[in-house]
Parts: sequence; structure tokens; C-alpha cells
Amino acid sequence: DAIARLIRDIPKAELHLHIEGTLEPELMFEIGRRNGVKLPFESVEAARQAYHFHDLQSFLNIYYAAASVLQTERDFYDLTWAYLQRAAKDNIKHTEIFFDPQTHCDRGIEFDPVIRGIHRALQDGKTQLGISSHLILCFLRHLSPEAAMNTLKQALPYRDWIIAVGLDSSELGHPPRKFKAVFDRARQEGFLTVAHAGEEGPPEYIWEALDLLEVSRIDHGVRCLEDEKLVRRLVAEQIPLTVCPLSNLKLCVFPSMKDHNLKKLLDLGICATINSDDPAYFGGYIVENFQQAATALDLDEHDIETLAKNSFKASFLSENR
Ligand code: ADE
Ligand code: ZN
Repeated sequence: DAIARLIRDIPKAELHLHIEGTLEPELMFEIGRRNGVKLPFESVEAARQAYHFHDLQSFLNIYYAAASVLQTERDFYDLTWAYLQRAAKDNIKHTEIFFDPQTHCDRGIEFDPVIRGIHRALQDGKTQLGISSHLILCFLRHLSPEAAMNTLKQALPYRDWIIAVGLDSSELGHPPRKFKAVFDRARQEGFLTVAHAGEEGPPEYIWEALDLLEVSRIDHGVRCLEDEKLVRRLVAEQIPLTVCPLSNLKLCVFPSMKDHNLKKLLDLGICATINSDDPAYFGGYIVENFQQAATALDLDEHDIETLAKNSFKASFLSENR
């Protein structure tokens, strides 16, 4: 129908996408085979069967185990290139990709092949697919602030390839305030900042991300509606939320797509965007996220256009970097 065509054809920016979360089981097995890594799944089908999650942590356990196949620059290139080809089909024109260096460096992989493989694929995405991109380095919040600071220092020689730093992994019990010093240093070094907040964590974590980490946007942020004063701030300052509907559904943040608060966020005047988070695990890329949200929440053409416009407005495209 007309909405489905609009969703598919309208130019989009994707702003919340973990590159490790685009590892489809087929590529996982191919890379595992060539690196001699034994996977915790018997087959591609068994891997997909195992993708049932009841919260963020139950997903992260599988996501980190699967990432262990990734070892060489070529692996990171292939992973990123596969995502970009898929993104082109969904008419994504610009993407801001998260990567988690600690997931790799803590098992003996060097920082250089990780970022170099991703960066080379992003360059090819620009020249061969016409997709522009930025890279965002995420710190794992279940690890210490000292570990995050070490990771930041490792990244400094590659600063021209990285636009921002972010904060991801297990949210509950790991408030943004723990990482204030690292984020202060990152901003001094010229990085922009973002953070996952208000996915499973309380509105207080969104306040901390804004006031202590000075983020340009909030990743997820859906729990903001529990705090009226916070909503007023998000609207007044047009602080974007990178919402991920299928992720929220699969991680049981909402019991069903009909219960998702995306339409409420839009109607309140919040700058919400739609993104795919970890599409290889959550059952769909960006168009599927738009489609399922539109069907369940009765989004109209104006909502779809607003979401697509918001994705470019919320991006770092206009930053002079
Ligand atoms: N890492 C990958 N996906 C994530 C999510 N949805 N929340 C926190 N950390 C993540
Ligand atoms: Zn995420």
C-alpha cells in the first residue's frame, strides 16, 4: 500500500546501529569456519532458534558470544560491507554506526584491524553505494570507567575516523554518572557524545546523560515519558531520541508493538527517530522497524515523513567535522 511504499522509498538516516548486531548467522558461520572458532550453536537454523530474549542481558550474552568469530581486518570489513549493502536496499542515505572495541580488545584482538576494517567498508559505502557515514565508539558500561578511559586513549590516533563516543551494554546498575570523567575527556579531545539511557533504566539516567555526559542525543530514551519535566526539556531543546521498535519488542521493554510509545513521543513533539539497533538479532532492518511500528500504531504519511526528516535533523551531518 501507499504507506509501505513511502516507508521503503523515503530517504532515511540510521543513527542507532551496532555493527556487531548486524552479524547474520550465515556470515557468523562463514567467518567462524575460516578462523577456526567453535560457535555455541550447531547450525545457522539453531542460532536463529536461540534468539529468544526476555531482557537486555539475555540478548547481550548471545551477542557477545557470537562476536567472538570476528578477528581480522577482513572480518570487520565483511561485516560492515554486508550491512551497507543491506542498508542501500532500504534507501538509507546516511548511517552513524556504533562499534564496541572492548568486546574485541578484551579477547586479544588489536584495536587497529577492528577500526580499519570498519572504516574501509564505510569508505567503499560512500564511493560504491552513495551512503555517507560516521563512526561512534561505544564504551561498555558493565566494565570500569578506567577501562573506558584506556579505550579512549587507544582511539586517539584514529580520532579523524570517529565522530563521537557512546555508552552501551547492561544499563541497570551502571548509571551514566560513572563515566563522567571519560566523557569530559572525550569532549576535550573533540568528540561529540551520545549514550544509551532510558531503555531499561529510569528517567534519572537520561538526566545524567544530558547533564553530566552532555550528550547530543539519547539512544532509546523511551522511559522519558515517566517524567513530565524531562519530556518538557526534550521538547524544548529538541534533543533527539534514537528509538528502536523491534529491539524494544524483542527485549520486552514493551509487551507488544501496540503498546510501544513511539506515537506518543511524536505527538508530544519529541524529535524521535526509528532505527534497527541489532537487526540480525531482532528480526528486521530499518524498513521492517518502520513497517511494524506503522501497522501497530497507525502511523500516517505525516508521521513517516516526520520520522525520516527527524533522522537527518538528529544526525551529525551538519557538524563541521
Ligand atoms: N549493545 C547492543 N545493543 C544494545 C542495546 N540495545 N542496549 C544496550 N547495549 C547494546
Ligand atoms: Zn543500542
